[in-house]
Parts: sequence; structure tokens; C-alpha cells
Amino acid sequence: MSLPRPLGMIAFPALQESPLNSPKCDRLVATLQQEIAPLHPGHRLPSIRQVAEQHQVSKTVAELAYHRLVARGMVEVRHGIGFFVSGGRSAPEPALRLPTPVVIDYIQGTGSGLRLSSGFLPSEWTLSSTVERELRALLRRPQGIGYGHATDPRGYLPLRDTLRDHMAERGIAIAPEGMLLSQGGRQALDLICRSLVQPGQAVAVDSPSYYNLNSLLRLYGVEAHPIPRRHDGPDLERLEQVFRSGRVRLFFTSSRHHNPTGTDMTPAVAARVVVLAERYDVQLIEDDCLGGFKAMSQPDLLTLAGPERVIYLGSFSKTITSAFRFGYLASSPATIAQVLRSKVDIGLFTPEFHDKVIHAVLLSGHYARTLERLREGIRRAFHLALARLDQLGFEQYSRDSEALFLWARHPAHPDSRVLAETLARRRISIAPGYLFDTEAAVSPWLRFNAIEIASAPMELLRQAFAPSSSLPGSFWTETPSIATPDREISD
Ligand SMILES: Cc1ncc(COP(=O)(O)O)c(C=O)c1O
Repeated sequence: MSLPRPLGMIAFPALQESPLNSPKCDRLVATLQQEIAPLHPGHRLPSIRQVAEQHQVSKTVAELAYHRLVARGMVEVRHGIGFFVSGGRSAPEPALRLPTPVVIDYIQGTGSGLRLSSGFLPSEWTLSSTVERELRALLRRPQGIGYGHATDPRGYLPLRDTLRDHMAERGIAIAPEGMLLSQGGRQALDLICRSLVQPGQAVAVDSPSYYNLNSLLRLYGVEAHPIPRRHDGPDLERLEQVFRSGRVRLFFTSSRHHNPTGTDMTPAVAARVVVLAERYDVQLIEDDCLGGFKAMSQPDLLTLAGPERVIYLGSFSKTITSAFRFGYLASSPATIAQVLRSKVDIGLFTPEFHDKVIHAVLLSGHYARTLERLREGIRRAFHLALARLDQLGFEQYSRDSEALFLWARHPAHPDSRVLAETLARRRISIAPGYLFDTEAAVSPWLRFNAIEIASAPMELLRQAFAPSSSLPGSFWTETPSIATPDREISD
């Protein structure tokens, strides 16, 4: 059996590099941060010239690195005297917000080329043809679009009811006022950050975690306490420590198909997360936007703890279409009322016309069948990609997650950002681990899309990840020549 996949070969521009975002500067910031951590406030730090000599970088890079640490509150400048360890706490650096074009190239892969880390499925795998059929049917109906008739800022009522019915089938009772439609999972995350956290407040978050969540937390000045993600879910010891500190009121996590590792929480870990959340009165934000890729048998946090404790986020961007940006939140009416205020502030309604199409697709009967096919396709692609990454010398984070994403690292590439930037110049996009790190720290990890890895020409992958490919002057500096990816995944 073979699976269809798309082609797309339009070139995208090479990434701009400046000393400020250069990998050298990043590495120096990470090293200095480690060196400074054990020192006492007020300790005098080496001069810019000394840092430049010691770390073999230019004085510009050394100076920029110090200024980034000043921005993080770790270092203070005494003008005319030098740099000192500051007495303040370390805060995330605003300048580290991820540059949007980089994210778009690496992850969205809108520029195409070879998109080895894309967050999307090939469009033939989704319900795009059903969407088009329902769209045409809606346009033929009188009042189909319903110009100006949207009345409820929570979103199109029949769709909210259908979603609540689906949840009721899983034993979850969501009140009519406990469901809110949003423009994609991203807007749902944004609404939560706007409504439920104040700048300077702290939250707990899976580490690594969805790059857009990291960006949002920085944007809103929220302090992120990273909880290492293990193969079976969050590190429970660390979670309890952070909860016990009393500083966090929210924990952003995923029980199924965690982004970027693709792993699921085991039932035992999920149960423990719920016990800890109850004990320390922390609200769980369950981001299930990729949950559709996994079978429903997983006991998600909402099922275990109910809507008073959990704010659940869903999206149909991956499984129906990303064009309509459709997402939703389910929780208690009180929590949704808080979030609703922000929704009204920033956009009032979600496009009701889109909601009607999504509703028609959900009722069409195609959705459940497509999900089954999709999961089987992803499962097969995962195993093919795993075997290929093994051959290429990658170490895998998980060997049994059967997910769209694989999280892997290669011993020859200790800083995946360097590799990503080199490959980008060859129109090969990969998502480096720093994008998924709450502090954007140097990382060897990479997120891959199983379908893309399974279907890319193997020889090209060999060349891309050969030990020398991060080095300047390797074959990547020659004129790009990307072979057309195979049309089909085959064993
Ligand atoms: C974990 C996670 N949350 C939220 C989103 C955003 O969903 P949407 O594409 O519907 O905005 C994504 C998208 O990939 C995701 O992976």
C-alpha cells in the first residue's frame, strides 16, 4: 500500500543572520549563563575583551552576549566600570522571541523545498474535498452564509452542541456556557494567556513544548517553569516541586501526541498529574490540538479531572483543514466567561460561516473514517521514518510513540540550529530544538515529520545529515540541487 503526498518546490529565501541571532552568540550566552549561575550578586565579570579572547569570538559578539544577559536580568552594567552579576532573578529575554520568518520557514515550511519538519499533513490526507463539497452546499442554501447574523460570541451554537455531544459520548459533561470556539488552537492558547495570566506571573509548562506557546509566554511576560517531558509524560518529581513552591496556578501540557516529542502520557502518569493538580490547586491546560492523530482510548486529563480543573483545547486544523483556523476551548462556565471577555475584546466573533462548514463536515460521517485512515497512515510513516533515522545515525527520543512527529538528535550535530541554518540555504527545512525550549537554549534535538522523512529521497537525507554538513564549505555551499521527492511512501 502507498500513501499519496504533495510536491512543492518553490524556493524560499535564505535566513538572514546577524551577530545578535548568530549561533555563536547563542552558544556564548548559554555558556556565560552557566558560568554566572553559581556566582554571587555583585561579582565582577571579565571584560568584553577577555570574554572575546577566552571564547574565541569577536568583541561584538561578546558584547551582544553580555547585553542579552543584561536583558535577562542576570548581569548588570556599571557604566565606565564593567559588568557584574546582578542581584535580580533571571527573566526570559524579550529579544529571544522567535523570529517569525524563521519559524515559518522551519516549521510551517510555507517556502517549501524539502520540509522535513513540517507541522502539517499532506492535504490529500485531510478532509479538504469534503470541506469543498460542504462549502458549495452551504453557498447554495438561502441564508447559508448568514451575513451579519452571528449573535453569540461563544460561537455557532449547533457546532458547540455537536462538540459537547462528542464529549458526552466520552463521559465528559460540558455545560452549554462551558464551550467557546476560537480561530485555531493558537488563538485558544492566546486567549488563555491574555485572560488567565498576568505579566510577571509564573506557569508550569512541558519542556520541550510547542514553539508558539513559548513565544506567547514571552510575549505576555509570563515566567515559564519548565517541566521535563519524559517518555511517559511530565517528570512528576519536578512537577510536584514546582507545584509545591506555590508560585504556579496553571500547567500547560498535552496528554496525547505531545508537540514536539509525539509522546503520550501513560494512564498512571495522567492520574498522578491530576492528583497533584488537585492537591496544590493548579489548573491544567490540556492542549489536545494534535490529539486526533492518536486513538481515543487514552484517558485524557479532562476525562479524569473534569472541566472545573481542566481547560481543554481542541483544533481541527490538522484533521479537517488548516485554512479555516478552527479551534475550541472546553472548561467550566466560570473559566470560559473569563476567556470570553478577551475574545470579545480582540475579535468579538469567530467567523460563523467557517463554523457552519466545519459543523457540516463533522455531521457528514466522513470525519471518523478519515481519522482512522489518517492514524494508520501516520503509524506506518512513523515506523518507516524511524528505520531511516536509525540508518542515518540518529538517536530517537521515543521508539513507540507512533506519532506524526519524531524527536531525534545526531551525535555529529550538537547544535541543531547550526545544521538547520546550513540546510535552509539548500531549501531543506528542519525544526531545531531551541525553538521548542522555554529559554530558546542551544539544543541538539530536532523535530521531524514522519511522512516527510519516510518519503524524502534517502540519498539526500544521507548527504544532509552527514557529519560534515554543519561545516562551512561543505557541499551545501554549492548551487542547490534538490531531487524531486518521491511521490509515494513505499516500504
Ligand atoms: C500542541 C499544539 N497546540 C496548538 C496548535 C495550534 O493549532 P492551530 O493550528 O489550530 O492553530 C498546534 C499546531 O500545530 C499544536 O501543535
